[in-house]
Order: sequence, then structure tokens, then C-alpha cells
Amino acid sequence: MKLTDVKTLARGVIVNTYEFPFSVSRFCPGPALFTLITLNPSTPGSKCTRPAEKLPAAQVRARRPLAPNPGTAGAAAPPPAPAPAQRHRPEVCCGSVAGLAARLQRQFAVRARGGAGPCGRAVFLAFGLGLGLIEEKQAEGRRAVSACQEIQAIFTQKNKLLPGPLDTRRWQGFRLEEYLIGQSIGKGCSAAVYEATMPVLPQNLEVVKSIRPLPGGGPDVIPREEEPASQAPAFPLAIKMMWNISAGSSSEAIFSTMSQELVPASRAALAGEYGAVTYRRFKGGPKQLAPHPNIIRVFRAFTSSVPLLPGALVDYPDVLPPRLHPEGLGHGRTLFLVMKNYPYTLRQYLCENTPSPRLATVMVLQLLEAVDHLVQQGVAHRDLKSDNILVELDADGCPWLVITDFGCCLADERTGLQLPFTSWYVDRGGNGCLMAPEVSTACPGPKAVIDYSKADAWAVGTLAYEIFGLSNPFYGQGRAHLESRSYQEAQLPALPESVPLEARQLVRSLLQREASKRPSARVAANVLHLSLWGEHTLALKNLKLDKMISWLLQQSAATLLADRLTEKSCVETKMKMLFLANLEYEALCQAALLLYSWRAAP
Ligand SMILES: Nc1ncnc2c1ncn2[C@@H]1O[C@H](COP(=O)(O)OP(=O)(O)O)[C@@H](O)[C@H]1O
Ligand SMILES: [Mg+2]
Repeated sequence: MKLTDVKTLARGVIVNTYEFPFSVSRFCPGPALFTLITLNPSTPGSKCTRPAEKLPAAQVRARRPLAPNPGTAGAAAPPPAPAPAQRHRPEVCCGSVAGLAARLQRQFAVRARGGAGPCGRAVFLAFGLGLGLIEEKQAEGRRAVSACQEIQAIFTQKNKLLPGPLDTRRWQGFRLEEYLIGQSIGKGCSAAVYEATMPVLPQNLEVVKSIRPLPGGGPDVIPREEEPASQAPAFPLAIKMMWNISAGSSSEAIFSTMSQELVPASRAALAGEYGAVTYRRFKGGPKQLAPHPNIIRVFRAFTSSVPLLPGALVDYPDVLPPRLHPEGLGHGRTLFLVMKNYPYTLRQYLCENTPSPRLATVMVLQLLEAVDHLVQQGVAHRDLKSDNILVELDADGCPWLVITDFGCCLADERTGLQLPFTSWYVDRGGNGCLMAPEVSTACPGPKAVIDYSKADAWAVGTLAYEIFGLSNPFYGQGRAHLESRSYQEAQLPALPESVPLEARQLVRSLLQREASKRPSARVAANVLHLSLWGEHTLALKNLKLDKMISWLLQQSAATLLADRLTEKSCVETKMKMLFLANLEYEALCQAALLLYSWRAAP
């Protein structure tokens, strides 16, 4: 970017003209717009639905106006530059453009009446022409913003999740006895998970006819051999039984202590438990997460007495209550969460499959979409790892990822993503290996605060190594192993050349130590969307906004058609729907700018 002209008008209005190689803001698509933004930095903020993002350093540098050239005739010191995010707010541009236009017109009329010399008239004619250009650009910018908003509105409607299997049975599924429980399907640090079904679920009617509930009143445990071959899964549900060592035995105490597990639970999920909904609503319980297709949905949450389930005495005897195991330390009652049963964790999927670079990029993108949703909702997961990501396959065998296990999440209404870190006793989340540098290096103090807004995106950067077929550099031991506290960015291993350049660059930028330099999850997701579906359309040196609008409209139409015409759920169509449902001009332009800068780099 270079300063090409500086003019001082009446009332201290300074017009700087910058030549900028790329359009970066909704109303600032060209050089003249940069000029105007420096005029009125104090105009109030935009109607943008997302908070203004801090830009990565590269972008900030690109947007910062240059100091005026001291040699330029008539140059005056420009007013202090506003923060980059402020400079791109529509009102700033609109207000200053409108004001400037009026002032210029007045001045032009006065000068014309006063018979300014030919030189003066030429200057004002040039200004008039420039202004026409600005207004045209401004109108183009407005069209782009409103196109994004309208597309977003359409796809937000379209993106409603399909109803869950228990949605039609509002008053059922709140007691453990209503379920048939199968084998153990997983175990973590705080719970055991079992496959399960409800005899009343329509897809299980056939299955259930062949299964006689066991006598005894407890949940029925079905031996695996009895599972008949059937199209519908015999156990479409998974039940997570929390281990309760310290939460006490009352339902209220259990809900309160294990409240983070309830963040992805719908309101209906808690409706059966006396006090659970009120706990969340009135007692400052954690947030309720709006549904997202890449985030687990908890259909039911309730407390019940701990049963003796398959493998309990071998796998977790110590956390059983003394009634079931004499040396057990667990309480008699605990929390149960009912979810969809997924066939794989990400770890299991990657053990058995090697996704192609393109498919792997789509998988990373799904994680970024989920993390962006969390950030927008003011929630940080804080325990992202391949065991906490579940996978199912679409009709074409493409993996669909969902983030699960919110037991370590930060979801506080009062503090949001800014956690006061007053002492070492404050919980910073799980999985120390994949803790972002700003979290792992934080030191407690009376005013210390940890900002989690980019911590999950950093963890996705590390998981990308696993998804692209390498080992996670932040796990393990030995010389190749990196520690989040101390690694240098130059030590990050290179991803294979077969991985698209944009994906490689994105992983590097997500793993920058300084959070302010990292792209947000939204911008990072947009980078991959543009890289996957945008080809070169939106990462051009001189992006034409009208061209961008027509590309977006084309994508919208094609996605709607694909969604309608294909009966099977297709991962790529679902991802495009998510992209369009989250379309926002600012974040889109930031992504396009990042892509352009990477492609242009030698
Ligand atoms: N909905 C589910 N479908 C299939 N497997 C699951 C599901 N939820 C959890 N699991 C399995 O159980 C394991 C432990 O579950 P998780 O929720 O992570 O518990 P913890 O809080 O103890 O870590 C997971 O790593 C996974 O293998
Ligand atoms: Mg877990």
C-alpha cells in the first residue's frame, strides 16, 4: 500500500489517498475509501452480528495507514489512526462519506461562485470525479454486505438440525429403567459410555421383539450375540454414566458439580429432572449451547442410582459404590447423559482410515465450524483431542465430525471467554498437552485473565496434524516432541506437500504462539471454505465485489439445489450450508486477504 496523495480541506478535513492492492472492508473496496476512513474515526460501531475481530498481524499491517510523505505538498499530520477493526465499520464510512460529500459540494459551489482560478477548478473537478468513484464503490460495498446478510438469513433457516430420536417422546427417557443397555463403547477419565436403546424407538421395534427384558427392574443389559442383523442400528443411543466420587448423592449436588456436561443438553433433555431446569435458569448454571451439526446433542440428562453394568468390576471397580464393590469409593447416585451412538471416535477413525488431503481438509473445516460456533456462544471446550471427537459416515462414506465431552468446558455467563486467573486453583481445562500457549504460560495474579477466544482454534491446529496423517507434534516424548509452553513456530513440522498450500499455511497460522496473530475460528473456517469451493475467485489481487456477490449467489443456488435433489446427506453440501449460514462480509474478506497473501508469497 502506498500513499499517493494528501489534501487538506476546510475544517481540518484531511484527505489521504492510498493505493491499496486489495479490497479488505465492506465499504472500503478501493483506494479512495482508505482515504475517507481516516477522516472520522470516532463514528460509532457497526451493526455487525459478530464482535469486531482483532486481525492477524499481517492484516493489521496491511490496513494501517502510512504516515504522510513529508515531501508531499500541502501535507498535514493525519489524525491518529483508529483501531483497524473500527476503521471498517459501515457507519464510519457512510457517515464520513455523506458528510464529506456535502462539504465538498458546498465548497465547490462557493469556489465556483467566487471564480476560482483554472487550477482550483481542476482540483475540485478531480475531487468530484473521485467522489463519484467513492460513492460507486460504496454502493458496491453495500450490495455485498446486504447480499451476505440475505444469504446468511436464508441458510440459517435451512440449517435447522433434524429432530433427535427422542424429540417425539417428550416425557420419556428420563429414567434409566426405560433403556436397554448393551456393551461398553468407551471410557474416559470421568465416565463410562454404553450403547443403548429404548424399546419404543420405532427403528428398534424389530430388534426389541427379539429381546426379552431381563427381570429385576434395573436397566436391561443385552448380550451382544443377540443383536440381529438389521438395517437400523440396534443401539442408536449412547449413555454416558458419570463416575461420582465427590459430587454427593443428591440430584441437585450432582447437577451442580457436573454442570459442564450439560452445556450441550437441550432444554427438553433436562425436563424430567426436578430442579434441573430451574438450576440452569436461576442459579447461574452454565450456558445452554445452541445446537450445531458438528457438536454433540445430549437428548436426556437425569440422575439415577448406579447400576452394575458390563465390565464395571473390571474396568472401573474403584468408582463403584460400596453396595456394588466393597472397596469402591463412589456415591450411590450419579448423572446419566443420553446421546446418539457414533460408530467411531476421531482417533479410531484415523487408525483405520487415511483420508485424502481434500477430505482431511473438510474434516479440519468441520472442527473449525464447531469451534466458531462455541466462540460465538461464549463457550470454550478446553479439552479438544481425538478421543473427544466422534465420527459418523455419510451415504458416500465421508466422515462427519462432532465435538463431544464438555466436562472441562468454560461456559460461564458472567466471565464469558475471559477467565479470571487469580490462583493456581482455578481450573484451566483438560489435556495439558493441547493447551494453547496463552493458557499454558499464564501466571495467576489478582488481575490476571486468560482469554480463551482462540484457544480451541489452536488445539484444532494441532489436531490437523493427526487428520493429515502425521502424529500430533505436541504429544509424546523425545526431540521431535513440542511443548506448548515453549515451542518456537519454526520448530513446527512441515505438513506433507500433498496437503493443499492453503491448509498448510492455515495450520501454521493457527499455531502462532501469540493469540492476537492467529485467525479466529470463523476466519480460519472461511479460508478453508474459499480454498475448497472458491477456487481463485475470491483471492484475487483486485477483488471485484460484484464478482464476489455473483459467486456467492451461484454457490447459494447450487447448494440449495444440491440439498433438495440429493436425498442422501452429503458432507460437502452440509459444509457449504454452514458456510453460507455464517456468511459475513468482514470475516469473508479477511479470509480472502489471507489466502491472497499466501498465494502471492514467493
Ligand atoms: N455418543 C457416543 N457415541 C459413541 N461413543 C462415545 C460417545 N460418547 C462417548 N463415547 C466413547 O466414550 C469415551 C469417553 O467418553 P467421554 O465423553 O469423552 O468421557 P470422559 O468425560 O470420561 O472423557 C469416548 O472417548 C468415546 O470413545
Ligand atoms: Mg473424554
